[in-house]
Amino acid sequence: MIDYQSILDKIYLEASKTSYKGEVASYIPELATIDTKNFGIYLNQINGNNYQIGDWNKPFSIQSISKVLSLSKALQLIDCDVWKRVDVEPSGNPFNFLSLIEQENGVPRNPLINSGAIVIADILISNLKNPKEDFINYIRNLANDQTINYNYKVAASEKEKGYKNYAIANLLKSFGNLNNPVEKVLDFYFHQCSIEINCEQITNIFYLFSNKGKCIQEIKHLSLSQVKRINAIMLTCGFYDEAGEFAFTVGLPGKSGVGGGVVALLPNNFVIATWSPGLNKKGNSLLGMEALEQFTTKTGESIF
Ligand code: DON
Repeated sequence: MIDYQSILDKIYLEASKTSYKGEVASYIPELATIDTKNFGIYLNQINGNNYQIGDWNKPFSIQSISKVLSLSKALQLIDCDVWKRVDVEPSGNPFNFLSLIEQENGVPRNPLINSGAIVIADILISNLKNPKEDFINYIRNLANDQTINYNYKVAASEKEKGYKNYAIANLLKSFGNLNNPVEKVLDFYFHQCSIEINCEQITNIFYLFSNKGKCIQEIKHLSLSQVKRINAIMLTCGFYDEAGEFAFTVGLPGKSGVGGGVVALLPNNFVIATWSPGLNKKGNSLLGMEALEQFTTKTGESIF
């Protein structure tokens, strides 16, 4: 029997001793003030057991983790037609890289880099009646928690300094890969990134990717092949130009965000989330990456 709580306790203790905890994402001014001492872990097992430590119940900004959820909603709405507009290859480049969009005629490499997520946002706007309302309700229902919401200050703060994302959206539009106005698409995108969530909630939301498409209330939202595709994309593209490193050291499909959250899962087994707002040079949570490496090493549980 693995003693999960004592493994989490050890990981937490080790990580808390680290003096350099990375840098917060200062390009979104509202995120620049978050204390890098925050650190939490939540482990949610499919068999119903949960283990947690540290700041697991403090809300943080979901940021790019939302890209997996918008992708899953787009697959629900138009299924394989998504792949006519976004590819499924790792980019090997930073999340907000511009040159590839031009080289590849406005078709983003994958849905988890900014350009791909902006195309997915365009798909959601075209296919949802009330896009922002419907999307937050989708997430609330997955989490079985109606309190989850956008943080309007964070969305406005990102918009104010969103030069790169405006450049990306304009480039996509110039290639005809956005059907809605740039302003409308980015408004949706900045809001999806601003959603506030804690480690427990994020594991509840991602539960369906570990549980064959069924959420924590056992309602079926995605087909088996949709879940397979989403997990494959998380494994190959979830950490941008550090996706190889994450697969190599952690060995799980997962996704990070510049708010400092990381979520990863073992199909049919567990979902684990960490939050530590200090990022490494590639924009992924420094302690989160280390904690997850320790977790799969100490438990011996990974997809490999
Ligand atoms: O568009 C952006 O730059 C942010 N809203 C999200 C980027 C992000 O979280 C990248 N993750 N590591």
